[in-house]
Amino acid sequence: MALQDELTKIKTDALTQIAAAADLNALNDIRVQVLGKKGSLTGVLRGMKDLTPEERPKVGSFANTVRDALTEAIEKRHAALSAQALQAKLAQETIDVTLPGRPVHRGTMHVLDQVMEDVESLFMGMGYQVVDGPEVETEHYNFEMLNVPKDHPARDMQDTFYITPDVLLRSQTSPVQARTLEKHDFSQGPLKMISPGRVYRRDTDDATHSHQFHQIEGLVIDKHITMGDLKGTLEVLARHVFGPDRKIRLRPSYFPFTEPSVEVDVSWGSKTGSDDVTSKDNGWVEVLGAGMVHPNVLKSAGVDADVYGGFAFGLGPDRFAMLKYDIEDIRNFYLNDQRFLTQFQQEGE
Ligand code: PHE
Repeated sequence: MALQDELTKIKTDALTQIAAAADLNALNDIRVQVLGKKGSLTGVLRGMKDLTPEERPKVGSFANTVRDALTEAIEKRHAALSAQALQAKLAQETIDVTLPGRPVHRGTMHVLDQVMEDVESLFMGMGYQVVDGPEVETEHYNFEMLNVPKDHPARDMQDTFYITPDVLLRSQTSPVQARTLEKHDFSQGPLKMISPGRVYRRDTDDATHSHQFHQIEGLVIDKHITMGDLKGTLEVLARHVFGPDRKIRLRPSYFPFTEPSVEVDVSWGSKTGSDDVTSKDNGWVEVLGAGMVHPNVLKSAGVDADVYGGFAFGLGPDRFAMLKYDIEDIRNFYLNDQRFLTQFQQEGE
């Protein structure tokens, strides 16, 4: 077949194929088959070297018109197929804006954090600083600096997790008292601090015990601080947390780092005649331990106990929350059960 006829056939066949190409991939295959390096048109152009010098320009210019026609046809078809593909994609991805949205689950602040933040903001408003302390503590700060020497029976009051004989998980937040006292510069003014945090004891977990729970320590040291200041402060605290009509009462108790030491009860209304202050039954309920800081604690921290003195208290946010919200099992705080946690959603959360 003469080259010219071959070119015409290539052109007609290719134009039919291009028109029939179903998608962009098929179209690209056709382009490669005809115009590619090993394509049919390219093959014909290579054969031109065997033509006579007179034929070559004629066939050459014809070949060019074929190539231009095919290139143009491919471009047009490409544009049409692209537009089609886009339409199909858009149709598939139609968004129904009238569908209700999926609710985004937002967490709630843990009820213990709420109680702790509430107490923190109360004391910050009264000029206290909030201090943090280590949970992995030395027995020096957890006991010795708090007037509990080795072999003192008071160490048995708190069953402690020891890591080494000298290092332990703090059994109370009171070591933060000792650490802060040691650092405080009284020429700059009195010391007023609270310290919230986790504490650990070797208790068997049950409804009222957890091997890990929380405390908020409070400490005020200045000249001329009295037990009246302690009582007034705790009354403000009780009324802030439990309600404006609350009364508090102090019962004598014992802590090695305070003298005198007291246990503090909050009035609870209903009376059944029982004298059990760990329940709400007798009209009072025990909420915290406190006392006037023992001179030995001040001396250990290098503070002049003849000039300075004050009070300390330690409260349990877990117990506060249980009393305030009638929660019967302390383990609820630590199970991360959404059904429990979401009951304490705050306004705006
Ligand atoms: N640290 C004591 C306890 O855990 C509580 C306390 C703190 C008592 C400060 C008096 C003063 O039982």
